[in-house]
Amino acid sequence: MNIRIPFHDLKRQNKEIEQETQACIADVLQKGSFILGEEVDRFENEWAEFCGVAAAAGVNNGTDALELALTASGAVRRGKQDEVITSPLTAGYTALAIVNAGGVPVFADIDRHTLTLDPNALERVITPRTRAIMPVHLYGRMCDMQAICETASKYNLVVIEDAAQAHGAILAGKRAGSFGDAAAFSFYPTKNLGGFGDGGAVVSNNPALVDSVKILRQGGHAAAMQSDKAGLNSRLDEVQAAFLRVKLKCLNEWNERRRRFAALYNQLLSGTSLKTPLIPGNLDSHVFHLYVARHKKREILREHLLSRGIETLIHYPFLLHRQPLFRRAEQPSLPVAESVAGEIFSLPLYAQISREEIQETAQTILEFEKKI
Ligand SMILES: Cc1ncc(COP(=O)(O)O)c(C=O)c1O
Repeated sequence: MNIRIPFHDLKRQNKEIEQETQACIADVLQKGSFILGEEVDRFENEWAEFCGVAAAAGVNNGTDALELALTASGAVRRGKQDEVITSPLTAGYTALAIVNAGGVPVFADIDRHTLTLDPNALERVITPRTRAIMPVHLYGRMCDMQAICETASKYNLVVIEDAAQAHGAILAGKRAGSFGDAAAFSFYPTKNLGGFGDGGAVVSNNPALVDSVKILRQGGHAAAMQSDKAGLNSRLDEVQAAFLRVKLKCLNEWNERRRRFAALYNQLLSGTSLKTPLIPGNLDSHVFHLYVARHKKREILREHLLSRGIETLIHYPFLLHRQPLFRRAEQPSLPVAESVAGEIFSLPLYAQISREEIQETAQTILEFEKKI
């Protein structure tokens, strides 16, 4: 199949910033320091400032960032079966991080309209073993953090935001990452802010928590080579940090383009049987890491698009509470998640896609609508 409109195309993004990235890579090579050096320090400061938090710690990927946030906050202790409530509709890494930290993921249902964790579904799954809530700002949309934080403080629970898909998203004037006790970001290459390899960060308004992550990311050695805590080996490379610093300057502009393209899709697809994503009001900002629509005949629509060379994906094809690693006998049913899981699919959308590609994708969907 000749793919004419790919789901991602990082080559286009690289072209836009080619000179700056080549210069920053050459600079790191020339300095000869490759892991946790001055570029990482600078990036951590710039990223904390961008998110509106006190401090950040760069790590090797978003999964480690989540695990280290759970450990450093004291939310999850090894061997205690500490429970962390999260969404069943997210990347498996969200729940994997809870397991890796030594905890037990517990899934609560999602909101029918936003597809993010439903604050009204939390109390149903809180038990005496619940220690934390991990809301996921799915597809770039912020969860209802005010309601989630209210429940968390009522039950004395830690909040760790999974902001892996929400770089720069805003709720009531505050950025993703600034609501919880800590938050985790992924800088996987296709994220809104992505490196050219793996990367991640923990951010928090609590500098002591971030200091603790900085110890845990280097084996747990508080003093040189002295092992007293079980940490990870999860460090951020200088070259990734330098690359991320270049891209951070573009993030607001690239998020703005994503929002414009999402609004264009919504406009072109209105009046079809597709359920398009809600775009929040003025104070809030969805950063459209993914443009996820719903359709009852998702599979034949995706086949039709593919037959015209348009690539789509499903985020995510399997709900987490049904997966062997995370399945639990006492898991209550999650009717909303179950009802949308077979309908969601993601259309191509990124800062460097063209208006013509969005129009052609929408046109191909309209064509399909006439056929069925
Ligand atoms: C919602 C979510 N959480 C966590 C992760 C894990 O991030 P990483 O792939 O950098 O480990 C990802 C990315 O895949 C994600 O999309």
